[in-house]
Amino acid sequence: MDTAKLLSWYRENRRDLPWRKTSDVYAVLVSEMMLQQTTVETVLGYYERFLERFPDVQTLAAADEEEVLAAWKGLGYYSRARNLHRLAKQVAAEDGVFPGTLEGWQKLPGVGPYIAGAVTSIALGLPHAAVDGNVLRVFSRADGIEDDIMLPQTRKRVEALVRALMPHDATSDFTQALMELGALVCRPVSPDCNLCPVADGCVARERGIVDKLPVKKL
Ligand code: ADE
Repeated sequence: MDTAKLLSWYRENRRDLPWRKTSDVYAVLVSEMMLQQTTVETVLGYYERFLERFPDVQTLAAADEEEVLAAWKGLGYYSRARNLHRLAKQVAAEDGVFPGTLEGWQKLPGVGPYIAGAVTSIALGLPHAAVDGNVLRVFSRADGIEDDIMLPQTRKRVEALVRALMPHDATSDFTQALMELGALVCRPVSPDCNLCPVADGCVARERGIVDKLPVKKL
């Protein structure tokens, strides 16, 4: 995959989303917690209101859980909100200082490999992989991976591919470029291969199996 082409495509075509205007770790964390199981369109109706009510980690830590859940109402998967609140209390107890490493992040409540990779690459400039459904789809097609994307070893394989390609001077853009490519071009149904910046060398395209990938057994 030609990462330079992917990055320049992203810089010209990325959506103007509110969490892309900040490098504040807390704000990026809130956006990724919301986006993990909810569409961009839905999150747009919540993100800024949540940050107005809870502008920083101390404010969130000091809030009542009921109020946090009320601000999350409609987003679903409320364990995310409870974990975010618990996380805020832990970080506030450390003088509001967020971890500076992947390992530090992974110890926090509700933070799995996706959130840890997303926050560290987007807000901290660290070269870690954030593999969501979009990224699994992009790589299953680009590399012709026919293994079930729901298997942990398939995710691990894709994480390794992302890490190997990651430009260390553009971790935030690279992470978000992969997600954006999956959302806008390498879509689940009727992907727009003619507009794809990394169509050259795409294995699924060469083999004519774009619509057969990714393989997702339930
Ligand atoms: N989905 C998950 N994280 C995202 C981000 N930062 N931008 C757009 N879509 C996303």
